[in-house]
Amino acid sequence: MYDLLDDAVQRARRYLTDIRTRAVAPATSAVEGLAALAEPLPAAASDPHETLALLDRIVSPATMAMAGPRFFGFVIGGSLPVTLAANWLAGAWDQNAGFYRSTPGVSALEQVAAGWLIDLFELPRGTAVGFVTGATTANFTALAAARHAVLARAGWNVEADGLFGAPPITVVTGAEAHPSLLKSLGMLGLGRSRLTRVAVDGQGRMRADRLPAIAGPTIVCAQAGNVNTGAFDPFPEIIAWAHASGAWVHVDGAFGLWAKASPELRPLTAGLERVDSSATDAHKWLNVPYDSGLAFVRDAHALSAAMAVTAEYLPTDTPERNPCDYTPELSRRARGVEVWAALRTLGRTGLAELFEKNCRQARRFARGFEAAGHEVLNEVVLNQVLVAFGDDARTRRVIEAIQEEGTAWCGVTVWQGRTAMRVSVSSWATTDEDVERALDAMLSVAR
Ligand SMILES: Cc1ncc(COP(=O)(O)O)c(C=O)c1O
Repeated sequence: MYDLLDDAVQRARRYLTDIRTRAVAPATSAVEGLAALAEPLPAAASDPHETLALLDRIVSPATMAMAGPRFFGFVIGGSLPVTLAANWLAGAWDQNAGFYRSTPGVSALEQVAAGWLIDLFELPRGTAVGFVTGATTANFTALAAARHAVLARAGWNVEADGLFGAPPITVVTGAEAHPSLLKSLGMLGLGRSRLTRVAVDGQGRMRADRLPAIAGPTIVCAQAGNVNTGAFDPFPEIIAWAHASGAWVHVDGAFGLWAKASPELRPLTAGLERVDSSATDAHKWLNVPYDSGLAFVRDAHALSAAMAVTAEYLPTDTPERNPCDYTPELSRRARGVEVWAALRTLGRTGLAELFEKNCRQARRFARGFEAAGHEVLNEVVLNQVLVAFGDDARTRRVIEAIQEEGTAWCGVTVWQGRTAMRVSVSSWATTDEDVERALDAMLSVAR
């Protein structure tokens, strides 16, 4: 076993070194090489070293270099070294993180990390925190608590009786809500289409002058960090309007919530400390390995009412925090470990520096594009840059050529009718030199 683990370490070291110099996207030949995996299920056992070698030989070259410093596609951070190391150690522990009694060490770590996060995001003491797989599940989890609370206030127990015959819930979102939020609402039986959509401005922010009249059980979903522009909804206006009618305010802050951790960026998040629930990713901007998301619910009872499980054989009776009272999963990996390791290692100043550095780098990209005569379509308030290289067809061609050239990788999007390249700067590993290298390569391709 130890030889095998040492072998994995050597291979991981080589991989992490190689991705700094190889093309960010996998070569076509590497992707074609994946056909070698399509073998019949082996009839007999074989040497595990051989399995590891096959994995490395065939799959490592066919990966996108997301852990490297010049991947700017989607909003995908790398893994801070301490979080990868903690992930390996926690893998060796192989803990089922559901219950305090069966895994006190992991439960204690999550409890500590939850307290730090509550402080960092300036949330009220007693806020419940669920360690889930990502923002989609974090939105789902927090909105399950919202569904519980608004229906309980109307005298309905949704966990016991479901939605059949329940009082209708009004759900309000911005017109630029992330599609995964709509999926979460759909999974909760609240519908992807039966929503009240609020008109947005040119940055994708909900327009405060277009908030509808609301009454009865209502959930309002605002957004911290639009996936294209990085823009933030006007929280103070939204919260005042929603709370005046007793509505529940939820915020999808998959990456934008982290702005709270930076003195420079914090003004963007004014009001967030007063919302009823929020969701974020740790695998995006906190730079922990996949998968890791966080759900925050001010009314801890509403979350545990939606999520807790009891059974005679389960060790639920403890005064300590049972992690599974706050997540959809009963059994799950100890994903709080990497969150704890990142927070403990970076500390408040390290976190602020990470987020501010990436935002400074995004502004550098924007200045570089504009200086070369290209059009930046968004106000660069966070770590997102949208750039057009002429008309839609030319922009698409340039993006494909940038992906092919290999120094960096960015994706394509359509922003309010315009095709654009989306540059998301989210990795601890990206240096200012990487930004200059990437910018030079992109501008030269665009020329
Ligand atoms: C604003 C927003 N919400 C939700 C999500 C979904 O996050 P995940 O893919 O981690 O579930 C994303 C992903 O980019 C996002 O940007």
